[in-house]
Amino acid sequence: MSTPLTIALSKGRILEETLPLLASAGIEPVEDISRSRKLLFETHHPDVRLVVIRATDVPTYVQLGAADLGVAGRDVLMEHGGDGLYEPLDLDIARCRLMTAGVVGNTPSRARRRVATKFVNVARRYYASQGIQAEVIKLYGAMELAPLMNLADEIVDIVDTGNTLRANGMAPRELIADISTRLVVNKASMTMQHERLKPLIDRLRDAVQARS
Ligand code: ADP
Ligand code: PRP
Ligand code: MG
Repeated sequence: MSTPLTIALSKGRILEETLPLLASAGIEPVEDISRSRKLLFETHHPDVRLVVIRATDVPTYVQLGAADLGVAGRDVLMEHGGDGLYEPLDLDIARCRLMTAGVVGNTPSRARRRVATKFVNVARRYYASQGIQAEVIKLYGAMELAPLMNLADEIVDIVDTGNTLRANGMAPRELIADISTRLVVNKASMTMQHERLKPLIDRLRDAVQARS
């Protein structure tokens, strides 16, 4: 028997919303992912298994073919770059915005800014497109702290309710991109495994449409 199709899932906030979609598409893990320390899960579907990894690692697994399919935020995909990946489906979960933000009342310089973010590639591209010279400082979390500590003039981060910004005396400035969670597919798999992948992608598309 051939290797089962492998779907790479982002652990964290996307996982909870991804599992019901997969279930409607007929894919359910044989054990409770949230109660297990395992990283690789069989499903009741004989041809599908799941790996549960850091959101930022999903594009890497799919791009290099270690997983055939993946579920990741558009923010993560923009930061990683899309080589070797198709993005056939918007799963319409974890909607949010990727924005610049700064301290309320501070007017940023047009010419030059220090920017703290975990999205360094996206930030460099964005500020270059705006003709603003940016010194981009890589952080791994709690970006909202950086301007308060005078580490940066501005941040690039996810904004949903805006509560995190408000709680730290900050406000959103410019929209960089609207974000939602996407299904990605390894390009070689899409060609070589098309017969096996197509029904799965179709069922996921139906599950997304049934929810809206
Ligand atoms: P991480 O640990 O990398 O921050 P999360 O589980 O918090 O991972 O976020 C996973 C994805 O969910 C992000 O890539 C983004 O697409 C989306 N997301 C992040 N924060 C929010 C939020 N506050 N509201 C809605 N979606 C979000
Ligand atoms: C995310 C994001 C913002 C916050 C935005 O953080 O990085 O900090 O949510 O949501 P809000 O606008 O509704 O406040 P998360 O909770 O994922 O924490 P993290 O730093 O661990 O990623
Ligand atoms: Mg997060």
